[in-house]
Amino acid sequence: MARTVITFGTFDVFHVGHLRVIERAAALGDRLVVGVSADALNVAKKGRAPVFSQAERLAIVAALKPVSEVFVEESLEQKREYIERYAADVLVMGDDWAGRFDEFADICEVVYLPRTPAISTTALIEKISGA
Ligand code: CTP
Repeated sequence: MARTVITFGTFDVFHVGHLRVIERAAALGDRLVVGVSADALNVAKKGRAPVFSQAERLAIVAALKPVSEVFVEESLEQKREYIERYAADVLVMGDDWAGRFDEFADICEVVYLPRTPAISTTALIEKISGA
């Protein structure tokens, strides 16, 4: 039976760290579903709107070869619902979230992948705006 992997993120100012986590997540199964966080969720979570809109971020992630399906993550509280909706066998998160999603181990495998060193959207925005 096909193994479905699900992961979540903002994926704003798309960079190689994003690509690597998506590639590694996809390698853990047969089908990768990605929840791209809504603009409103980012404003609430990070205190700023993303550089690229959710429609743009969704389009970029959806165009990647390892990605089978994308959806808008409207709320951080709905992870269980999303995992069930997409019948995910594996939940992948970056290890900046290590331990934070262990509660879902009753319905899927929970895997934390190490972040790609020395790159983040926040650092990129700072670098570009300071140039
Ligand atoms: N990610 C990664 N390596 C990086 C940056 C991000 O593996 N260097 C992963 C995160 O762990 C997450 C996904 O990419 O699983 C989406 O992360 P996101 O928060 O959108 O990207 P960041 O660059 O971390 O954004 P920010 O600086 O705004 O927090």
